[in-house]
Amino acid sequence: MVNYHVANVTDDLFVLRVDDRYTKYFEALWEIPEGITYNAYLLKTEEGDILFDTWKRQFSSTFLEALERVTSPDKLKYIVVHHMEPDHSGSLEDVLRWAPNAKVLGHPLAGRMMNAYPRAKAKFAPVKDGQELVVGGKKLKFIHTPWLHWPETMMTWMAEEEILLTCDVFGAYGIPLALFDDMCIKKENVIRSTRKYVVTVIGHYREWIGRNIQKLENMGIKPKVIAPAHGLIWRKNVEEVVQIYKDVASSKPKDNKALLVYASMYGTTEKLARGLECALTKEGFEVATYGYNDTARPPLSEILTDASDSKVIVIATPTYEAEAFPYLKMVAEELCWKVGDGKKVVIAASYGWSSAAAEQIKKILEGCKYQAVEIVKYNAVGPTAIKDEEVEKIAKKVVEAVKG
Ligand SMILES: Cc1cc2nc3c(=O)[nH]c(=O)nc-3n(C[C@H](O)[C@H](O)[C@H](O)COP(=O)(O)O)c2cc1C
Ligand SMILES: [Fe+2]
Ligand SMILES: [Fe+2]
Repeated sequence: MVNYHVANVTDDLFVLRVDDRYTKYFEALWEIPEGITYNAYLLKTEEGDILFDTWKRQFSSTFLEALERVTSPDKLKYIVVHHMEPDHSGSLEDVLRWAPNAKVLGHPLAGRMMNAYPRAKAKFAPVKDGQELVVGGKKLKFIHTPWLHWPETMMTWMAEEEILLTCDVFGAYGIPLALFDDMCIKKENVIRSTRKYVVTVIGHYREWIGRNIQKLENMGIKPKVIAPAHGLIWRKNVEEVVQIYKDVASSKPKDNKALLVYASMYGTTEKLARGLECALTKEGFEVATYGYNDTARPPLSEILTDASDSKVIVIATPTYEAEAFPYLKMVAEELCWKVGDGKKVVIAASYGWSSAAAEQIKKILEGCKYQAVEIVKYNAVGPTAIKDEEVEKIAKKVVEAVKG
């Protein structure tokens, strides 16, 4: 059974939210055991109703069921497409089949991406950045917010109600029981799942977060309610969610946080990693540790989330076929892609006969402006080959580099 909600945001504005507990890997990439919601909105006016976005295709029949609770095909006048990613546009064709007379509005680029939805494309009319639309006494303003998350993405500002419909922006992973942030929520979970969403989904375009927030500020837009297409509707801590987005966009570090990522086939690197974790903890660091070994494959989504507010990143890799461990090469590349540059990195590499593993990770990370402050290489085959004293010696070096 699909769980969904239809609730009032105001007397005339409804949220239609579906709880997606089925997607294991969002965008086929990001591990989300906490799930995700897709929020569409419906505004009722005297001249007809306006739908903002839809749900992922898998839920389209349930979406129509939800829509029928608040509108009808003859009443649906407009469908505003904020974003063409199929988690929001996937049910468009089914909605148009149900309400064939509705007109579809979106950024001109959205129209060019609509080939999968011929009914929607046929009813499409482009709207410009800053364009206003008055329907049944309700005033809407469309604001183009490029690269949050795609080039065509836009928001809708309801000036009188001071509500900003933001699509992906200010969204989060997770399926909170509450619909609104002023209800009973698990605050730390919400903050974590918001950070995780920003890093993984919008992290690559992080520069655009500040730019678009500035654009909204320059337009004098100060929403009382932020209504995104994922997660909670914000009406109490509006400034807080904006701040979370700004902090993640700039990869703002906590003073004492370190991320330690390692891989270990036979326990050698793991032995060192435990020593590093212990030494960093003793130094007052809060260490987020993730290890790839023969029983664990840690989620990349969590590693990147912890990277974003870490002050320092430590990568410990065995040499594997003359290179760094495959998953760690991927971690290093994604650190470049999704998380801000300028952070300190320490790399430790073990090898059996000859190694370029450390240099390889260094090259990837320095290519995107991380600073490699220490590189340690040590020869060992098997955990007993690395003595406790050597672990201590390396850990001391690492701590000094991190502090320096
Ligand atoms: C499948 C495999 C491939 C390896 N390839 C290399 C290599 O190309 N060059 C090298 O110097 N050592 C190589 N080694 C040795 C390891 O890098 C070294 O023993 C390391 O300390 C193992 O760490 P671990 O026990 O944490 O996996 C290899 C080991 C394994 C198991
Ligand atoms: Fe998106
Ligand atoms: Fe989305």
